[in-house]
Amino acid sequence: MNNLLEIRNLRITTLRGKSKVLLLDKVDLDIPHKCSFGIVGESGCGKSITANAIMNMLPYPLSISDGDIRYDSRNGEVELLKLDKKAIRAIRGQEISMIFQEPMTSLDPIFTVEMQMYEALAFHHPAMTRQEMRDRALEMLHRVNIPRPEQTLASYPHQLSGGQLQRIMIAIALINDPRLLLADEPTTALDVTIQAQILRLMNDLKEQNDTSIVMITHDLGVIAETCEEVAVFYAGQIVEQANVMELFHHTAHPYTLGLLQAVTSLGGESRMLYTIPGIVPPGGQWSQGCRFADRCARCTERCREAMPALTEISPGHKCRCFLNSEEVEA
Ligand SMILES: Nc1ncnc2c1ncn2[C@@H]1O[C@H](COP(=O)(O)OP(=O)(O)O)[C@@H](O)[C@H]1O
Ligand SMILES: [Mg+2]
Repeated sequence: MNNLLEIRNLRITTLRGKSKVLLLDKVDLDIPHKCSFGIVGESGCGKSITANAIMNMLPYPLSISDGDIRYDSRNGEVELLKLDKKAIRAIRGQEISMIFQEPMTSLDPIFTVEMQMYEALAFHHPAMTRQEMRDRALEMLHRVNIPRPEQTLASYPHQLSGGQLQRIMIAIALINDPRLLLADEPTTALDVTIQAQILRLMNDLKEQNDTSIVMITHDLGVIAETCEEVAVFYAGQIVEQANVMELFHHTAHPYTLGLLQAVTSLGGESRMLYTIPGIVPPGGQWSQGCRFADRCARCTERCREAMPALTEISPGHKCRCFLNSEEVEA
């Protein structure tokens, strides 16, 4: 396969009472090798469930009702959704790792940083000696710019700041040299200065390693700082996808334009706080036409009648909007 990860026709449903409700609708994504790929959209658009589906970690009652996810592992191509529990555990943390918005949800308050780093190592390298684990843990803390690594190893999570904890999460996520790092809003809980430092760190790590990063965020400013390619999610669908320069300079979807206006700072320039009027319709409450129609200033009658297809409008640039293409979703 050409890419590191290929998602085809992914559908995720949940149960509401006895009925199935669609949350993610026929998503296709290709993540190339050594690429930083952004997934952007407001809260509730399906970004996190997509990442959780890749990791095979969807919480009940969510489930994958269709689609496949192929991954180019070190040992050859695998179909992630068909792996048994043991095989997926071998991939998780070793080939594919994930970092979350809240480091405290992944770090255990009752264990030192050292114990948690060793655990991540020992799971995939049972033969490693204590000294080897310590060397590797210290090396990783150095790489994420933790000032006093030895002291930090002996610390408990509550003794560290949010920025330090997020660095440690990144160190743990990268400790086994994964080929794919899924970062779900990794800087959203941090203040602006620390956020910039963490983003810089992630960029450096990508340069130094053979790792692809999927950066999930609600903020196009974060995408501009970190990504090469970006997919815009809205109401469980991709509505626009392009490389970052193209998306910023030739923005095609009115939703993406709204997200752009909502960016508070880009390249140091700060702007008025803007939010797109209205809310993201939840799963099960999608209209038959364009799902953004109710919030779109350029909505026409046609937009309410039929759903536009995701169409290539220029090489490598896809958009789902009748302003750009007449094509209707099949
Ligand atoms: N555990 C869950 N149970 C039921 N619905 C969920 C659950 N997790 C997410 N959802 C729903 O799935 C949709 C997508 O959620 P999510 O992927 O978390 O959005 P995002 O990460 O883009 O903010 C939302 O409508 C959300 O309410
Ligand atoms: Mg999310």
